[in-house]
Amino acid sequence: MTTPTPVGPSTPTSTATGPTPTKADRFSFGLWTIGWTARDPFGDATRAPLDPIEAVHKLNELGAYGITFHDDDLVPFGSESASRDKIIGQFKDALAETGVIVPMVTTNLFTHPVFKDGGFTSNNRDIRRYALRKVLRNIDLAADLGAKTFVLWGGREGSEYDSAKDVQAALERYREGMNLLCEYILDKSYDLRFAIEPKPNEPRGDILLPTLGHAIAFADSLEHPELVGINPEVGHEQMAGLNYASGIAQALYHDKLFHIDLNGQRGIKYDQDLVFGHGDLMNAFSLVDLLENGGPNGGPSYTGPRHFDYKPSRTEDYDGVWDSARANMRMYLLLKERAAAFRSDPEVIEALQYARVPELSVPTLNPGETYADLLADPSTFEDFDPDAAGEQGYGFVRLNQLAIEHLMGARG
Ligand code: GCO
Ligand code: MN
Ligand code: MN
Repeated sequence: MTTPTPVGPSTPTSTATGPTPTKADRFSFGLWTIGWTARDPFGDATRAPLDPIEAVHKLNELGAYGITFHDDDLVPFGSESASRDKIIGQFKDALAETGVIVPMVTTNLFTHPVFKDGGFTSNNRDIRRYALRKVLRNIDLAADLGAKTFVLWGGREGSEYDSAKDVQAALERYREGMNLLCEYILDKSYDLRFAIEPKPNEPRGDILLPTLGHAIAFADSLEHPELVGINPEVGHEQMAGLNYASGIAQALYHDKLFHIDLNGQRGIKYDQDLVFGHGDLMNAFSLVDLLENGGPNGGPSYTGPRHFDYKPSRTEDYDGVWDSARANMRMYLLLKERAAAFRSDPEVIEALQYARVPELSVPTLNPGETYADLLADPSTFEDFDPDAAGEQGYGFVRLNQLAIEHLMGARG
């Protein structure tokens, strides 16, 4: 008996109804995402390499506005100057033809064996100097292409063994490198800012600046904190068991969300890089609600690129690659619709009131009130009835049920 070949539309999601991405949505993709040939530690590539020019045209057709890349994704490591110039020239032509832009550029400081102990924080000083040169060269290209953000993902900045890395010295070298890069873009008058991308582990056993909180603290300690923010990735925070939407709220609060990497992750395990929303869907809903609508009490929203850093699964051929690219954008737009419905539902507004969510934005002290006034106010302590206050319910579960029902499309 022969197994029948499955038949069906090769691009099922393209025919589905619902929102269609446009450039106004500001969706961007890494060249290394759709171009991942699916080699993993256990198996060979399952797809042929993707031509960067084709990537630009295809993303344009799908409705994305931007493409991003590591230096080595576009120009193979070690290329001669003439061939580098030619590749960049052809890439620029494709951008001009399609109107696709390059909102962000990043440098590969992790693939070549020279970086096996890191770039900016390698124990080997010569390698640190080489890493800085590689980044400086790529910053020139980023500025030339009009990128506004330069991402630094330090995947090899870390160690497997505590005795092998002086973490405090490594942070000092990281700082030295970042301060130098800031000085460079200021001297060159480049309209560029840096975004550090945290990740807890993989490929190193432990990576420096493992979470967005670590990265914000580090960025604020630099000579030009206004030029250094973060590029948090959904899966990376979730690999550490953290609540991504909550972390993003804090990044927005500190005005450090310079860029974002959207994808999906199912729990604490290796970096899955699934399609956005294909992991923790509920948290993805809260995230899109926050990015689009800001905090429930008027906290800031996010205006930068919606950048997908995912990997089309190894099982997919190129039809599957483009389906998965479409799926990222569709997930975002569908969640955006659901979030808008959630925010405008009168029952939700009433449930938020009942849950006292708006009350949290009221300052705890009255205008001009001091601790002496607080101490002198018997209603805050002597006459306060903690038992009565402790009996009152907040209705958080009902509020969450309303959110889930909106997410499921069960309401308006
Ligand atoms: C990863 C990272 C990278 C970075 C990229 C941009 O886990 O591999 O997410 O994909 O985002 O190197 O700097
Ligand atoms: Mn990742
Ligand atoms: Mn990433």
